[in-house]
Amino acid sequence: MTDFSEIRNACMLCTNCPLHETRTNVVFGVGNPDAKILFVGEAPGENEDLQGEPFVGRGGQLLDLYLNGVGLDRKSNIYITNILRCRPPHNRDPRPEEQQACLPFLRQMVKQMQPKIIVCVGRIAAQVIISKDFKVSKEHGVFYERGGMLLMGTFHPAALLRDPRRKGDCFEDFLKLQDKIKALGIEI
Ligand code: URA
Repeated sequence: MTDFSEIRNACMLCTNCPLHETRTNVVFGVGNPDAKILFVGEAPGENEDLQGEPFVGRGGQLLDLYLNGVGLDRKSNIYITNILRCRPPHNRDPRPEEQQACLPFLRQMVKQMQPKIIVCVGRIAAQVIISKDFKVSKEHGVFYERGGMLLMGTFHPAALLRDPRRKGDCFEDFLKLQDKIKALGIEI
């Protein structure tokens, strides 16, 4: 059984970057720590900061639709977290020093969970986790093998709300994910 309580407690007390001064809640993550599929977004927004859970705004509702469409559920068979655990003011992009301050928590989570697949939700997560020049428009839905894990980047739901023409492409990524889950024999 994966137990995140130690990392979670460290996050709750974290003052490693200035974002702790403006946060309402630390947004640690949600889901099943024993899951083999980890979703990583960018950073909490306003709703997430207020509620302490990732992806709970309009974008989160869209993400849930895609997840549920391929048999995934944030409460039972995946885990969802972000590159940052505290909200950047006005939802600006995470700064490099904030990423560096928060990444050790993600690394520890990955080490404990040992996910088979990491899905990077949006450009920022994909550039941090897959490659620094990752282009979502070109590389979405592609699985990269790294250290015994498969890494895949897809569209951020906020980007889909701005440009709904990419919604079909995004759902295709989720269908590829579903195929990969079956091919790897991951029980969900
Ligand atoms: N956007 C993200 O990347 N993560 C969240 O938790 C909410 C919005």
